[in-house]
Amino acid sequence: MINNKIVRFFLCIFPFCFLALVCKAEDINSIKSKGYMTMGTSADFPPFDFFKEGKIIGIDSDISKRIAESLGLELKIKDISFNALITELKNGNIDFIAAGLTKTAERAESIDFSDSYFTASQRLLVKSDSLVSRLEDIDGKKVGVQLGTTADSYCTDDLENIEIMRYDKATDAIAALSSGIIDIVVMDDFSANQVVKKNKNLRLIDGNLTEESYCIGVRKGNLILLRFINETISEMKHNGEIERIVSSYMNIPEDVENSNTSKASEFLKREYIQYIFNGLTVTLEVTFFATLLGVALGTFASSLRIISETNKHLKIFDMLVSLYTTIVRGTPVIVQLFIIYYVVLSGISKSPIVAAIMTLGINSGAYVCEHIRAGIEAIDKGQFEAGKSLGLSEGTLMSRIIIPQAIKNILPSLAGEAISLLKETAAVGFIGVMDLSLAGKKITSITFDPVLPLFAVAVIYLVLVVGLTFILRKIERKMKNASN
Ligand code: ARG
Repeated sequence: MINNKIVRFFLCIFPFCFLALVCKAEDINSIKSKGYMTMGTSADFPPFDFFKEGKIIGIDSDISKRIAESLGLELKIKDISFNALITELKNGNIDFIAAGLTKTAERAESIDFSDSYFTASQRLLVKSDSLVSRLEDIDGKKVGVQLGTTADSYCTDDLENIEIMRYDKATDAIAALSSGIIDIVVMDDFSANQVVKKNKNLRLIDGNLTEESYCIGVRKGNLILLRFINETISEMKHNGEIERIVSSYMNIPEDVENSNTSKASEFLKREYIQYIFNGLTVTLEVTFFATLLGVALGTFASSLRIISETNKHLKIFDMLVSLYTTIVRGTPVIVQLFIIYYVVLSGISKSPIVAAIMTLGINSGAYVCEHIRAGIEAIDKGQFEAGKSLGLSEGTLMSRIIIPQAIKNILPSLAGEAISLLKETAAVGFIGVMDLSLAGKKITSITFDPVLPLFAVAVIYLVLVVGLTFILRKIERKMKNASN
C-alpha cells in the first residue's frame, strides 16, 4: 500500500522534474541558438570593466571572452548601472554578470555564483592632502560609495557617524572626491589602486576593510552555464591565464580614457563629440515619438470623456480616464519608467528606448488630456446653451463651435507640454538609454571633469528649448490667423 503511494508520488512529480531539467537545458540552448552570449557589467571599474575608445574592455571581458569561446559563441557586452545588474539578469536581458561582482549571501538568494576568480577588499580612498589616515578618522565625514555595491553595504552596516553618499557609477564618486564634494570614497582595492595611479591628487589608506571574492553571476538554477563557466575559470587559473590577464592590466597605458587630464581639448575629442551627437539624436527621437503618442492618447482619452459626458451609460469611460490621469499625474515619471521597463515590458521588449517612448508618451497623454479638458472648460458656458437652444445636435455643437475655439486655447499648453517632455527625456538615462544627459554624464565619468560636458549638455538643451518654443509659437500664430 505504502509502496503504491510512493510510486504514485514519484510518477506525479516525474513530469515536473523532467520539465525543470528541460527548462534548464533550454536556457543554454537558447543562448547557443543565438550564436552569442551577453555579459552585463558596469563599465566604471578599471581594470575589470572600463571604456577604451568606445569599447568596454578589462579583466572581466577577457575572462568572459574565453567563456564564450568555450561554448563556441561570440561575446556581447552591455553596460548597465551596477545596481540594476541582478534585475537585468533575472529579466533575461543579459546571460551573466561579470563586473568585479563579489559573492555575498544576500545576492546568492537571487542569483547563482561561479567559483571565485579574484580576491579583493574594500579600502578608503582620500584626497592626497586629506587629514584622514585611518578608519577611526572618518567620523562625521561624507563618504561616497557606488550604489548597491559591497562598499555600500559595508558603510551602511558597519560604520557609524558618517554621511553616506550613494552614486550610480563608481567614477561619479571619484569625481565627487576629486572636486571636494565628499571626503572619502570606499571602494574595491584593486580598482582603487588604478584610480590612484591615474589621479595624483588621490591616495589610498592602508588597511583592508573586508575580504571578498569576485565571481560570475548567472540566473538561479542555470547549472549548465555555471558548469561551463567554472570549467573555464578553473582551466584559466591552472594554466596561469587569469594571472597573465590581470598583470596585463596592471599598468594602464597612458591613453586609457580614465585619465585626469580632461581639459577643453580632451573634451573636444572626436569620440566625446560622437557621444554627445548620438545622445542628442536619441533625445530628439524619444521626444518626437513620445509627443506623438502623448497627443494621440490625450486626444483619445479626452474624446472618451466628452462621449461619456453626453451619455450617462458611458460614465465608466470618464472614470477610467480619471483613473489614468490621476495615476500618471500622481506618481513620479521615473517610477513609471521603472515599472514599464522592468515589469510591464519584461519578457515582451528588451529595448529601453521602447520603454522610454511608451512611458513618456503615456505620461504626456494624461497631461494632454487635462489640457484639452481645460481648453474646453474655458469656453463660455453660454455657448453650449445657445447652441442647444438653436437646436444644434451635441455632435455639431462640439465639432463646429466648441472644438475650433478650444483648439486655440489648447495649442499654447500643448506646446508647453512638448517642451517639458523634451526636458523630461533626461529621466530615460535611469534605464540605460544613452540620451543627451547620460552622454554628458558618461563623459564626466571618463574624464572625471564634470564642468565642460555638463555645461555643454545644458547649453544644447537650452538651444533646443528656445528653438522649439520659437517654432511652436510660429505654428500657433499661423493657426490662429488661419482660423480668424
Ligand atoms: N565588488 C563590489 C561589489 O560586488 C564592487 C563591484 C563594482 N563593480 C563595478 N563594475 N562597478 O559590490
